[in-house]
Amino acid sequence: MPPATPPKAFLSDALNRIQPSQTIAISQKERDLKAGGRDTIGLAAGEPDFDTPDNIKEAAIAAIRAGKTKYPPVEGIPELRAAVAGKFKRENNLDYSAAQCFVAPGGKAIVYNALMATLNPGDEVVVPAPYWVSYPDIVMLAGAKPVTVETKIEAGFRLTPEALERSITPRTKWLIFNQPSNPTGACYTREQLKALADVLLRHPNVWILTDDMYEHLVYGGFRFSTIAEVEPRLYERTVTMNGVSKAYAMTGWRIGYCGAPEPLVKAMAKLQSQVTTSASSISQWASVEALNGTQDFIPKFQAAFEARRDLVVSMLNQAHGIACPKPEGAFYVYPSIAKLIGRTAPSGNVIANDETFATELLDAEGVAVVHGAAFGLSPFFRISYATSNKALEEACHRIQRFCGNLR
Ligand SMILES: Cc1ncc(COP(=O)(O)O)c(C=O)c1O
Repeated sequence: MPPATPPKAFLSDALNRIQPSQTIAISQKERDLKAGGRDTIGLAAGEPDFDTPDNIKEAAIAAIRAGKTKYPPVEGIPELRAAVAGKFKRENNLDYSAAQCFVAPGGKAIVYNALMATLNPGDEVVVPAPYWVSYPDIVMLAGAKPVTVETKIEAGFRLTPEALERSITPRTKWLIFNQPSNPTGACYTREQLKALADVLLRHPNVWILTDDMYEHLVYGGFRFSTIAEVEPRLYERTVTMNGVSKAYAMTGWRIGYCGAPEPLVKAMAKLQSQVTTSASSISQWASVEALNGTQDFIPKFQAAFEARRDLVVSMLNQAHGIACPKPEGAFYVYPSIAKLIGRTAPSGNVIANDETFATELLDAEGVAVVHGAAFGLSPFFRISYATSNKALEEACHRIQRFCGNLR
């Protein structure tokens, strides 16, 4: 018997407002093709190919052996909340007490908790585009309205103070701000942050959710700063979000954290107590080691990613019709395919937009990338270069061949 499909009316309005994550869907499609025998290269998934460092794994094993396997406190184990407070002080010069630090099962769950705990129908949330795919959907799940503000390739995909000013209305509750950016890799200097902060100071009702997940992945000597550090007057209405997924190669451990005003931490805890209870106790102990233990591998990860960035940017700029900026951080590039729109693929299909580009590329060359429309800005595509140099070189050769074959 085929599995029963629930009728649409059975599903909630909230669910019907959102889309499944397109990056997860494309990665799955590539894995399915590979399982079916196709020679594919997946550049869609946003996770480091490195393994979790051994000291972190050992801390998790030790936690299991010591029986630290019971329900942890909702907000996080005290040791991890203290480690998070220590990290904010050490790396960001931000004073958060342990009571202001909150732990959730992944950075995504921090965004979810913060937005679900605060948004009502009619509220607006400013989301610069291109954006990480989950922001607008979580806003819509909460019944509020994402107000997307398009950035420009010529401005390094950075939000400008003028565009921010124009996007704020009396209904704006949050600005969701992410740097180094997924999907563009764009970062902001202190001066650029200060210029945005000056706009926000004029709008005291707007809160800032800064997603600093890729903080440690910056290149060429770029110095990362976060907004509450640059403008302390915004501290009282800023959620500084981060996690161990990307910097410590711990995507599967599911730990994210933030520093925030204590009443908001309490609100998020109230919500989490009824949803997931907490993050896994074992992953939390592993994260204590990640934050407090050696940080020696971070420069190694950084150096490997920087070399890959340079390889990919150089090879993509040699592909016919592609223009690829060189970003300062994260492990993504976001090249333009404006010059390829309207061309015809060997299949006979016209490249009408970035979605057909990505589909034709996957069909013709087995290379999985994510189309820009998924991130709210076209015509672009995103490559995650968190994979081996060999795979990246081969993928870029295939992209060059694919673009060269367009008529
Ligand atoms: C910008 C950004 N924020 C948050 C997350 C979520 O991180 P986590 O895997 O810890 O939920 C991701 C993951 O792709 C991301 O790219």
